[in-house]
Amino acid sequence: MGKKVTVVGAGFYGSTTAQRLAEYNIFDTVVLTDIVEGKPEGLALDMSQSRPIEGFETRVVGQTTGPNGEGYEAIEGSHVVVVTAGLPRKPGMSRMDLLEVNARIVRQVAENITKYAPNAVVIVVSNPLDEMTALARIATQFPRQRVLGQAGILDTARFSHFVAEDLGVAVASVKTLTLGSHGDTMVPVPSHCTVDGKPLADLLPAEKIDELVRRTRNGGAEIVGLLKTGSAYYAPSAAAARMARAVAEDSGAQFPVCAWVDGEYGISGVYLGVMAELGAEGVRRVIEVDLTDSELAALKTAAEAVRAKQADVANL
Ligand SMILES: NC(=O)c1ccc[n+]([C@@H]2O[C@H](COP(=O)([O-])OP(=O)(O)OC[C@H]3O[C@@H](n4cnc5c(N)ncnc54)[C@H](O)[C@@H]3O)[C@@H](O)[C@H]2O)c1
Repeated sequence: MGKKVTVVGAGFYGSTTAQRLAEYNIFDTVVLTDIVEGKPEGLALDMSQSRPIEGFETRVVGQTTGPNGEGYEAIEGSHVVVVTAGLPRKPGMSRMDLLEVNARIVRQVAENITKYAPNAVVIVVSNPLDEMTALARIATQFPRQRVLGQAGILDTARFSHFVAEDLGVAVASVKTLTLGSHGDTMVPVPSHCTVDGKPLADLLPAEKIDELVRRTRNGGAEIVGLLKTGSAYYAPSAAAARMARAVAEDSGAQFPVCAWVDGEYGISGVYLGVMAELGAEGVRRVIEVDLTDSELAALKTAAEAVRAKQADVANL
């Protein structure tokens, strides 16, 4: 107890993240904010009333915030802030179509985090993910290890789910890994994919693995297409909540996340999906996993693709 976490944005992603964080029962307080008057307060009250049923003590506090930072005092003292504010995709849209509108939102949110929670670790989920993470770091001026993004846990979970479903095995027996960016340059890492310790390549033909990788890469779009309005949030919120938990507990848990890469894999100066160890200071260290030559080449290509886009966000 004693820890405080804030979730900015009380839409589908934010509200489910707040609920998961509250149900962990490890935080003193979960703060949920939004610019829509009454929405975070209403959702927080509703979540609070589930406490006797679910058996958690965490206080859930909702706070409407204004265009000039009104209400942001509520986030003071937060150890972790999860940024979910921003528009989601509509069918046919790419994540990049959200760039300008979400950049305005994320910049405003980041400036208020700097002012009211200057020691927080910031976990960004707003899309386009790699660019919004880079922008949050520029706007907060926090040390780079204290600003990170969520994408890899989700992409990896989607891949594992598809493999488990295809083989008809328990999801717990499946290990997969995706690195790179959240989108077209996602880098699946087949050499780290196993089922009960056996290489995936021994269990499925290459074409089948390619098909599952394609489905994983389009995992978000598949759900957007089915929902017609809004995007995925159950698996995404599970991923962000795990990251916030690892920071709050200073656990050293290792996850694929969007982190600042500074020399690892021969790549420097870019936010990229890599394995990292998380703790109270955010990213404790980036972990270099062994990659085959082609996997390493794909990661370097992904790094160059996101580097170009991240260079532009400073002006947004
Ligand atoms: N990284 C990932 O893996 C991943 C996965 C799914 C969705 N996303 C992204 O997460 C974001 C949120 O998705 P969602 O489904 O919750 O959307 P949503 O439309 O349900 O919720 C977004 C919320 O943000 C609020 N908001 C807008 N401007 C704000 C501001 N300045 N301050 C505070 N709140 C503000 C809105 O009022 C709304 O309630 C989207 O950008 C989406 O693309 C990322």
